[in-house]
Amino acid sequence: MLDVSHVSHHYAGGGRLWRKAAVPVLHDISFTLEPGVCLGLLGVSGTGKSTLGKIILGLQRPTAGRVCFAGHDCYTSDRRSLHSIRREVQAVFQDCYSAVNPLMTAGQIIGEPLRNYERLSPLEQKRRVAELLEQVGLQASDVDKRPAAFSGGQLQRINIARAIALRPKLIVLDEAISSLDMVNQTQILSLLAQLRADYGMSYLFITHHVQAALTISDRIIVMDAGQIVYTANSPQALMKSQHPLVQQLIAARLPEHPSRRLDWSSSSL
Ligand SMILES: Nc1ncnc2c1ncn2[C@@H]1O[C@H](COP(=O)(O)OP(=O)(O)OP(=O)(O)O)[C@@H](O)[C@H]1O
Ligand SMILES: [Mg+2]
Repeated sequence: MLDVSHVSHHYAGGGRLWRKAAVPVLHDISFTLEPGVCLGLLGVSGTGKSTLGKIILGLQRPTAGRVCFAGHDCYTSDRRSLHSIRREVQAVFQDCYSAVNPLMTAGQIIGEPLRNYERLSPLEQKRRVAELLEQVGLQASDVDKRPAAFSGGQLQRINIARAIALRPKLIVLDEAISSLDMVNQTQILSLLAQLRADYGMSYLFITHHVQAALTISDRIIVMDAGQIVYTANSPQALMKSQHPLVQQLIAARLPEHPSRRLDWSSSSL
């Protein structure tokens, strides 16, 4: 369904008098994503995960390579195909607050894609929005509240409701749980798992959080310095990997029991 083929990217260098060197970010990235699969994209900060996410979403044209969705090139297809790709591929980002217009109500935010892509009667639109609110664990009566009246976790549920409104085939989740507390992270992960079971969507789950990637993904790609350095065909395979970066990421998890707490006094910090 999604075919990322030999994608490389560099950002143009800035500078007014002297043009600075271009910043290489992605090098020859290739992978495919099949329907209904959750692919984790794991890597430390600055490895190019969000850049790759933006390229897949059609927001950043790659300097080399191709991204195809359902056989159509995401950058060079005709307008009709691009319109359909925009509908089928949705996104949820880390910052739930900046992803919404603070002046709009929950109903207007969730209803926006429906207004853009479907011609519904006002009554039908209202019914769909109420249904979506309930699907993400909010209440139909929340429809007239504005973003300031919601907690971060609730607002991320609104972003998820907006992303699933058109029943897309793929959702790119870029650090979608990273700004939430542990309880909300767990709840949102289980909501995402439930929605995937209900609708059979695919997810590209971008994260630097090993545990979250292990919890939700079927396959996991590990990136380092703009390259794919390891692909795990299951969460179990990731845990068993001997790749030094994977072992480093796994070892970097915080200890779960106080008896294993870090000894700061002996650290070199
Ligand atoms: N618009 C831009 N212009 C120039 N350089 C950029 C731009 N966006 C990102 N970069 C650079 O590209 C590299 C990769 O950034 P990117 O945001 O894709 O990484 P990331 O893996 O998503 O990191 P994080 O885990 O912190 O979100 C970084 O060195 C970053 O500084
Ligand atoms: Mg990022």
